[in-house]
Amino acid sequence: MRSFVAALILVGLIVGPWLSDTRAASDREKLLTEPGVYGTFALFALNEEWAKQDPAMRIVRLTSLKGVVEQHREHVAIDVYLLRGLSDHADLLFRIHAAELRQTQEFLLDLKSSQFGRHLKTVGVMHGLTKTPNYVPGFSEQMKADLKAVSEPGQHPYAIIIPIRKSAEWWGLDQEKRAAMMQEHTAVTLPYLKTVKRKLYHSSGLDDLDFITYFETSKLEDFHRLVLSLENVQEFRYTRRFGNPTILGTMKSLDEIVELLAQ
Ligand code: HEM
Repeated sequence: MRSFVAALILVGLIVGPWLSDTRAASDREKLLTEPGVYGTFALFALNEEWAKQDPAMRIVRLTSLKGVVEQHREHVAIDVYLLRGLSDHADLLFRIHAAELRQTQEFLLDLKSSQFGRHLKTVGVMHGLTKTPNYVPGFSEQMKADLKAVSEPGQHPYAIIIPIRKSAEWWGLDQEKRAAMMQEHTAVTLPYLKTVKRKLYHSSGLDDLDFITYFETSKLEDFHRLVLSLENVQEFRYTRRFGNPTILGTMKSLDEIVELLAQ
């Protein structure tokens, strides 16, 4: 009997963390793909005190960052980006997906009060919500099929985030007119779908914005050309805010961030 209990405990010790990892991975997958999920973009700068820390102390502080991410991993999907060197706005960006915005708040509060978080100055926070497509269902079958192409952002992609606000005039147009313009938007952007991965967040009412647009690509030149093409479509004339700021950074794993900041 005793050996049976010991065997059960052993199995629990081996399978438990695996099960929890598998659950966290499937929850993450859901949060990153499903509609009705809140996406938050939190920008931070490292304070002057950080530069004065010796490497051993930095590692202690960075371990607390890993701890907080690990602690919240089951409820929120957390992605980290390095902005330092490419952006004068901030050093780090956290993209957080959660079923409830209060879960994101809990993560950010724990992050800020961690040993590492005490070195972070908040530069900005933006919120949005993922939704089912508004216009795509009315597009031609060909366009719908083209939109299903899988994007391959490349091995070491950059991330670009552009907040957008549209005019009151846009929202006053009837659905048909807006749909026709979004069809034109899609026609000029489709050639870039292969190298540019995109995600759209709706922000009206949650922030001083209408949309947060998020992109991943290794080909920044393609992205540059894509934006120039969009500036020519009719829908673009209804844009009141484009960027301001445009956020550009590199995608990193948490371990890479820890390694880079430890130096
Ligand atoms: C790979 C390139 C892109 C493709 C294939 C693409 C495609 C689309 C599609 C199909 C929609 C309609 C979604 C719906 O039915 O609700 C849409 C919406 C939108 N896209 Fe793009 N897009 C691309 C790039 C961009 C870029 C570069 C920007 C601006 C930086 C942008 C900004 C927007 C915005 C703000 C909306 C929401 C418009 C609204 O609902 O009023 N897109 N896009």
